[in-house]
Amino acid sequence: MCNHKNAGILSVGSAVPDKVLSNADLEKMVDTNDEWIRTMTGISERRIASEGEATSDYATKAAKVALDRAGIDPSEIDLIIVATVTSDMQYPATASIVQNALGCKNAAAFDLGAGCSGWVYSLAAANSFIKSGMYNHVLVIGADLLTRVTNWTDRTTCCLFGDGAGAAVVGPVGEGEGLLGFELGSDGSGANALCIPAGGSRQPITHEAIDAHMDKTHMEGREVFKFAVKIQGEATERVLAKVGLTVSDIDMVIPHQANIRIIDSAVQRLGLAQDKFFVNIHKYGNTSAASIPLALNEAVEEGKIKKGDTVVTVGFGAGLTWASGVMKWVY
Ligand code: UT7
Repeated sequence: MCNHKNAGILSVGSAVPDKVLSNADLEKMVDTNDEWIRTMTGISERRIASEGEATSDYATKAAKVALDRAGIDPSEIDLIIVATVTSDMQYPATASIVQNALGCKNAAAFDLGAGCSGWVYSLAAANSFIKSGMYNHVLVIGADLLTRVTNWTDRTTCCLFGDGAGAAVVGPVGEGEGLLGFELGSDGSGANALCIPAGGSRQPITHEAIDAHMDKTHMEGREVFKFAVKIQGEATERVLAKVGLTVSDIDMVIPHQANIRIIDSAVQRLGLAQDKFFVNIHKYGNTSAASIPLALNEAVEEGKIKKGDTVVTVGFGAGLTWASGVMKWVY
């Protein structure tokens, strides 16, 4: 047992497939067009995993980058959390597969399912494990291959999603820096608004279910949109209030990349400059639990986040869940 009080992100990394699916490609698959997709969602293209690849492949790649950057040996990792809704198999946990691939022989491992909020939920869990003194270094990974569960005949959803992974090494940091606070929530009354109806214990897979695309993502887009617009601003304001900060203290917001109009609504509500919201949705679409760490990694790589910055991460998704976190960047 160790006894550290504060936890922070020590490094980040990401991985995406090479294969690009553009809006022009989608025009050939369903009745849609580039202008509708870009105007209504902000997405220009997304990445698609190749046949035979799995979520753990990208989770492992992203984690390797983060481990290298932190200069931490895999044996020093005490816990791996993989936030995902597209695990390699129904069970075991994808985190166990990642543990083996990385050689993190001293690590516990579990998956966390909170939809697109999953990575921020996992970060909050890592923070608690470290603060309690139970663990020292935790790998927090968000990884999803949503295109594996996309109904490619449904134009209302198939243009939205993409594949990828992002990872962070979380460990002990000094007083007053690192992870400052979290706001997590769920409204299960919206559980059916965004789900894969078949393939679980309620409705096992049958030929009929597959023919009806019940093994793929179903979404009440409008309902989720309204929820997202409301909760994104609220969750940001609540987490700031919890740690005694205000919107004017924010240097950078890393929002879940679901729809540029949802991000723009937060820009309006919070009254922040547009460039304080990091956006990369045009390149990757909605990558679910990977979306926030993928964006965070790019923001860091582009020098948009520096030591001492106040960074807010905010996500929402299936559940319906939401999660926000605020941190003082440590490197
Ligand atoms: O990660 C968290 C989960 N997901 C989200 O956050 C997504 C939340 N929802 C959304 O982003 C939006 O609801 C969508 C982008 C999915 C849809 O935007 P919307 O403003 O809710 O549009 P809509 O579904 O009401 O559709 C407007 C029109 C409809 O035509 P009519 O009925 O007005 O004639 C649709 O049939 O746009 C049509 N439409 C399309 N047209 C061209 C729907 N999808 C397409 C498409 N291409 N791909």
